[in-house]
Amino acid sequence: MTQPQHVYLTGITTTGTPHLGNYVGAIRPAIAESQNPSHRAYYFLADLHALIKCQEPDRVRQSSREIAATWLALGLNTDNVVFYRQSDVPEIPQLAWLLSCVAAKGLLNRAHAYKDAVQKNQEEGQDPDYGITMGLFSYPVLMAADILMFGATRVPVGRDQIQHIEMARDMAQRFNYLYGEHFVLPEAVVDDQTAVLQGLDGRKMSKSYGNTIPLFLDEKQLKKHINKIKTNLLEPGEPKDADSSTLFQIWRAFASAEETAEMRREFANGIAWGEAKKRLFELLNEQLRDARDHYNRLLAEPDYIEAVLRKGADRARETSEPFLARLKEAVGISALLS
Ligand code: TRP
Repeated sequence: MTQPQHVYLTGITTTGTPHLGNYVGAIRPAIAESQNPSHRAYYFLADLHALIKCQEPDRVRQSSREIAATWLALGLNTDNVVFYRQSDVPEIPQLAWLLSCVAAKGLLNRAHAYKDAVQKNQEEGQDPDYGITMGLFSYPVLMAADILMFGATRVPVGRDQIQHIEMARDMAQRFNYLYGEHFVLPEAVVDDQTAVLQGLDGRKMSKSYGNTIPLFLDEKQLKKHINKIKTNLLEPGEPKDADSSTLFQIWRAFASAEETAEMRREFANGIAWGEAKKRLFELLNEQLRDARDHYNRLLAEPDYIEAVLRKGADRARETSEPFLARLKEAVGISALLS
C-alpha cells in the first residue's frame, strides 16, 4: 500500500510585524519546505484569529499586508503552497460552527489561553470572566476548523500550540463518531532543532515583551536595535561566555557552522562587545538585504499582494466548498428534495 501523502498546514496570526524570532522559528523553515513539491501545503493569514487579540482595525490590516509581503519577499513558492487569507474562505467559520456543536465546553475550559486569562482575573480579584470574549474561549474551535477543513495531517507549530491540535483531534473524532468518517486526525509537528531566539533583553523574543528586532528594518534602525542587545560589563580583551550571550545566540541562528565556531573563538579571546555587534549587523544586513528590497517593493504594490492572496483563496475554496457541502449533508442540512 502506498503511504498517504502528508498535508501540511499552518496559520500566522495577523497582529504584528514579523521579527527575527518569527523568522528563525517559523518563517524560514516553512519557506524552505515550500520548495518541496512532494507534499501539499496550506499556509494562511489567520486574520479571523487576529480579532481575538487585537481590536485595532489599522493594525490588523497593516499586519496582514506586512506578513504577506514578508513571506512573498522571502521566496515562498506559491505553486507548491496554497497561500491565502482565512477570511477569504467563508467555509472556515461555517465549519467552526459545526464543530462548536460537537465540542465539549468542558474541553474548551481547559484551553491554556483561556485558563491563563481566568487565572489572571482571579489573582487580580476580578470576576473570573472579566474581559474574556467568546472569541478567546472558542479560539481552539476556529483553529480546528482551519486544520480539519483541508485534511491536514501535519501541523507545524510552537510548543504552546500542541494542546490546540489535540483539541482539534478530539473534535474530529467526536464528529466522525456521530456523522461518519469525514475528518482525518492531524498531528502537531514541533521542531526542537529550530532555535527559539532571545530578544534584546535576553528573554524569549516576543512581541508581548516588546524586545523584538523586526525583520526588515532599514540599515540604520537595524544597527540601532542590535546596539540595544543586552550584554555585560566585560571589557575588550576579557574572555566572554558565548553560550550565555544573546548576541552569540542570534549570531548562531544566522551564521554557518564555520562562522559560528570562529565567533566562539573570538568570544574566548575577548572580542569587544561593540565589535561583536558590528559583525552581527554585517551578517544580518548581508543576509536580509535582498529580501528587504523585495519586501519594500511589494509593500508599495498592495494590488499585487491582493491578487496573490485571492488566487490562493480560489485554490483553497476548490477544497473547502465541496467539503463543507458534504459535511452539511452529513449533519442534515441540505435542500429538501423529494
Ligand atoms: N494559533 C496559531 C498561533 O497563534 C495560529 C493559527 C491559527 C494556526 N490557525 C492555525 C496554526 C491552524 C496552525 C494551524 O500561532
